Amino acid sequence: MSGSPPLTPTLSPQAGRGSEQSPSPRASGEREGPAQREGEGRRPFVVAIDGPAASGKGTLARRIAERFGLAHLDTGALYRATALAVLDAAGDPTDPAAAERAAQRLDPQRLADPRLRADAVASAASMVAAIPGVRRALLGFQRNFAAHPPASACGAVLDGRDIGTVVCPAADLKLFITASTETRAARRVKELREQGTPAIYENVLQDLNERDARDSGRRAAPLTVAHDAHIIDTTTLDADVVFERACALVARALEEKEWQQ
Ligand code: CDP
Repeated sequence: MSGSPPLTPTLSPQAGRGSEQSPSPRASGEREGPAQREGEGRRPFVVAIDGPAASGKGTLARRIAERFGLAHLDTGALYRATALAVLDAAGDPTDPAAAERAAQRLDPQRLADPRLRADAVASAASMVAAIPGVRRALLGFQRNFAAHPPASACGAVLDGRDIGTVVCPAADLKLFITASTETRAARRVKELREQGTPAIYENVLQDLNERDARDSGRRAAPLTVAHDAHIIDTTTLDADVVFERACALVARALEEKEWQQ
């Protein structure tokens, strides 16, 4: 990475989608996270959640963060915001120079832009995400978020494609959330229609297939399952069942970490 300063960690604790704040675990008796903030020198508790497009990992990450009083970072929002900056400047998302410049200059305010959720932006995001310089420019911010979670949280949940493999290879818990392409497309269509956006199943399916192929086929940090990840296939599972299953894994990982320290 050269020239411009890297993205600085000035974002809200729950950047991007679902940007409600994750209060301190001490603020709520219902939370199951560690009772107090980690002391200086103690490594924060980190949950890495990866998976293909529309697998439900974002919603799951947000719910886990809320239940355990952890900060949440939707790392896809960083790539979406980079892509949107390129598109807004009438640039080409496959142009490495333009995309890298946009990633280096990324304005944290852009992570709250509702336009990030558009399918055209998702598709452009997977193009900029294949550019190694873009990934390098965004890596430091993500690692810093995990190492120093904001707002007195004792840990963080990060969701994306390469969290367990590249961003946080030493995460305390790694989940890989997946589902059949058809199920993911049907869920995305339902979500879009509920938002009042017309959606055609065949088009959404094609978009997902193209994005998955780009994300899995790229050379820089491709979407792969970390060797120590728990895989949850949600094709036939209700979101609440997935949430409870994931919470049981988080609780166990938290217990193990407390026991080791
Ligand atoms: O929400 P959805 O799963 O559809 O996508 P997202 O998580 O917002 O990610 C948008 C795009 O950003 C993905 O298709 C990936 O190409 C890229 N991405 C990535 O490469 N690495 C990440 N850690 C997160 C997202």
